[in-house]
Amino acid sequence: MNSLLCTEALVYSAGQRTLIDKVSLRLEPGEMVALIGPNGAGKSTLLRLLTGFLPPTAGRCLLDGQPLAAWPAQTLSRRRAVMRQQAQLGFDWPVEDVIAMGRAPWEADPNPALVRELMQLTGCVTLAGRSWQQLSGGEQQRVQLARTLAQLWRDGQPEGYLFLDEPTSALDLYHQQHLLRLLQGLTRRAPLHVCMVLHDLNLAALWADRLLLLHEGQLVSQGSPETVLQAPVITRWYGADVQVGQHPSSSAPQVFLTR
Ligand SMILES: Nc1ncnc2c1ncn2[C@@H]1O[C@H](COP(=O)(O)OP(=O)(O)OP(=O)(O)O)[C@@H](O)[C@H]1O
Ligand SMILES: [Mg+2]
Repeated sequence: MNSLLCTEALVYSAGQRTLIDKVSLRLEPGEMVALIGPNGAGKSTLLRLLTGFLPPTAGRCLLDGQPLAAWPAQTLSRRRAVMRQQAQLGFDWPVEDVIAMGRAPWEADPNPALVRELMQLTGCVTLAGRSWQQLSGGEQQRVQLARTLAQLWRDGQPEGYLFLDEPTSALDLYHQQHLLRLLQGLTRRAPLHVCMVLHDLNLAALWADRLLLLHEGQLVSQGSPETVLQAPVITRWYGADVQVGQHPSSSAPQVFLTR
């Protein structure tokens, strides 16, 4: 089935402030999108709207033609998963149980073999048996990735919409590469859409099919990495002085700060 998540002139206001300002976009399975923009641009707020955790002030957010608010909670949980910027858990569970928590929309008693498979996939095998509170920030991020994939897992692959808010912020080089290769591979072979907030423009350029640049709640630029990551565009919206070159082994643009 062809699926589509789209917004039409989406607006979100808090008090006097318009945090999201008439954003219209389309997200489809098979694609990896990076949501970029300066601090406070509204990226996390947009993610909350796209996942149904915030109701729009105006405009619409539709999954397969139906407003998110019209979806029964359990059905929606089977269709989209979210990894937040800061994952706080109020309890100290073993890693396996945190990952198994992702299965809640599907089953009360998840198959341990599936949890092991997801740990393998996400580089969490060395964390087996450890307790959540004792994990490092990067280790917690890897476990959260496994939990979100568990939530979308269906017949041997993830299906639906995966939203990740700065999923690489605490990861070392190896795990950044591992996560992005994994997610790109999954969007190529499974009916999965990945929409991730990234501050690292060079990672976004290497792995995202499309970039969405948000500034003060408005979608000010979108398209391929080559279209969006141009020095004047970045300087205009981030205020940073940059030069844009090319990745040595791919055609992807790479952004360098100037001293
Ligand atoms: N409930 C709220 N009331 C008022 N302002 C809010 C509220 N929630 C968020 N904001 C403001 O809205 C703006 C956008 O916040 P948001 O967290 O979406 O930014 P962001 O693009 O994710 O930033 P960062 O890159 O720092 O994570 C910020 O200026 C924030 O202070
Ligand atoms: Mg944010």
